[in-house]
Amino acid sequence: MRKIIITIDGFSSCGKSTLARELASELNYVFIDSGAMYRAITLYFLRHHINWEKTKAVEKALSEINLEFQPSGEPGKSDMYLNDENVELLIRDMLVSENVSAIAAIKEVREFAVEQQQKMGKRKGLVMDGRDIGTTVFPRAELKIFVTADPAVRVERRFKELYEKNPKITIEEVKSNLEMRDYIDSNREVSPLRKADDAVVLDNTNLTRKEQFEKALEWANNKI
Ligand code: C5P
Repeated sequence: MRKIIITIDGFSSCGKSTLARELASELNYVFIDSGAMYRAITLYFLRHHINWEKTKAVEKALSEINLEFQPSGEPGKSDMYLNDENVELLIRDMLVSENVSAIAAIKEVREFAVEQQQKMGKRKGLVMDGRDIGTTVFPRAELKIFVTADPAVRVERRFKELYEKNPKITIEEVKSNLEMRDYIDSNREVSPLRKADDAVVLDNTNLTRKEQFEKALEWANNKI
């Protein structure tokens, strides 16, 4: 069986990472959550008070950052490490979510992340989710999936997930964060969020997790 690259792109909180993880585990592939990389860079910039409007400051900060995925306890799941520190939980923080899209729009930041993502795909057998994976990172991927879902459904799902960790969070906060990120991600100059011309659309508004997984697996099996 040949090994392929599967890209999963789409708006915030469409369930891309869940689908990518499930597919990777079923196919025995590596799963990479590219958003975690932008989130870890954002955490570093916030902690070190980097003025990200200054190119020199951005370049210097990036030269100090080492990103790595390491297996977590759970099967098929890996955690993001920033300079040898496990930051998997910290990068899901609201402060990171509020700043990540602005930082991910910076050309130097994207070049830094994309170069590492492309290296990870050298050996195929990879599922990567993000915003520009099918358009920029792996334009020749064998299977490209573009995930969508009704915005109200996405807000509801994200709220439920965040509320478990932080009962103080409000639905308005979650809604405005998703809208802001989608807007910045779709309108930035470098690699904006777009469906690749050859991507298949997976609208999961009315699908269960199992149904969307089975659909995607069927597409993958047709390519392998
Ligand atoms: O996937 P997740 O929502 O964790 O990604 C966080 C943010 O990282 C996105 O809102 C987007 O601004 C940025 N991102 C990106 N390109 C990717 C993955 C994520 O710009 N490939």
